Amino acid sequence: MQAGLAGYSDMAMRTVARRRGCPYAVTEALLDQVLLRGGRGREKGAILCDEDHPVAGQLMGSDPHELAAACKLLVTAGFDVIDLNFACPVKKVMGRSRGGYLLSDPATAIAIMRTVRDALPHTLLSIKLRRALNETPQAADWFDEVFNEALNLRFAAIAIHGRTVEQKYTGRANWDFLARLPARLSSLQPSSRPTLFGSGDVFTAADALRMYQHTGLDGIWIARGAIGNPWIFREFAALLAGQPLPLPPSVHEQKDALLEHFSLAVQIYGEELASRQMRKIAIKYSKLHPDGPTVWREFIAVKNQREWDDVLARHYTKDAAGISLPSVPDAADLCNTSCEAAAV
Ligand SMILES: Cc1cc2nc3c(=O)[nH]c(=O)nc-3n(C[C@H](O)[C@H](O)[C@H](O)COP(=O)(O)O)c2cc1C
Repeated sequence: MQAGLAGYSDMAMRTVARRRGCPYAVTEALLDQVLLRGGRGREKGAILCDEDHPVAGQLMGSDPHELAAACKLLVTAGFDVIDLNFACPVKKVMGRSRGGYLLSDPATAIAIMRTVRDALPHTLLSIKLRRALNETPQAADWFDEVFNEALNLRFAAIAIHGRTVEQKYTGRANWDFLARLPARLSSLQPSSRPTLFGSGDVFTAADALRMYQHTGLDGIWIARGAIGNPWIFREFAALLAGQPLPLPPSVHEQKDALLEHFSLAVQIYGEELASRQMRKIAIKYSKLHPDGPTVWREFIAVKNQREWDDVLARHYTKDAAGISLPSVPDAADLCNTSCEAAAV
């Protein structure tokens, strides 16, 4: 599935991914209070299109009743699933008792889950967790309390990022922890088992297959690996079916995806904002281009649609084979996305 990614996983990114084999997607974390107050622009994260289903709307908040009211708004807006974020490690979010903070306060986390369940008895609910707040035994107990309540309340899906909240985006995700999760469902009837998604360090389709095989989870939550690489979904599907890895997308396939992404982004943000928004996305696409570093430098300097069109005309008119991505991205790239996450 296409992961929640603040600043990225909007209707444009999700739709481009779906056209390349992604079966399910979630929004970025939307703030309950912003939705309830009707916005100031941030509610653009809740925009959907007909192609963008099934889709989960992800919410973040601290007050059970406000969160439940915002969940109802997302159901009315056409979301198929409501996802609660108890994972975000950003200081500002934690400081307001939201996101990953809730893994240190299971009583409030459980109150939120129960209030939302009561408010929406027939809606599919899911939850995004990290493997704990930190490495302490107490944090492991807090995780268990929240995880078990999701089972009690018949949540449809649970996604777990294999890092702790305090790790933020440093170090490796603990896939061994993820591999121990399916056994916790063994006492449940098959019909009441949630779908378990694993997250963390999935940068290529080969990584996704390795996580799937190593953990035995039901699905893979593809996050940074999908930014600028929507082909990762069809590649993973091929590997799962035992087929060889498809060739990386050609320059013309990349151009088609960039044009689709831009035109969908214009529908959401208008032309001016979309041109700026696309810079950080296009530089990720450039990694698949045979002249990647040059294309990267030109995309990062784009200020308006004319300059955007010029870069496409200069570098994407002639077709050529695309570049295969390495399994472990370079450190600078990881830092860029983590810094953006910290800025949310
Ligand atoms: C820039 C950025 C923004 C993110 N925003 C969200 C978000 O809004 N909701 C969410 O559930 N996770 C969010 N995450 C976490 C990812 O979905 C994912 O769990 C995490 O990056 C680990 O996967 P990866 O190592 O394969 O990237 C974000 C991560 C990054 C890097």
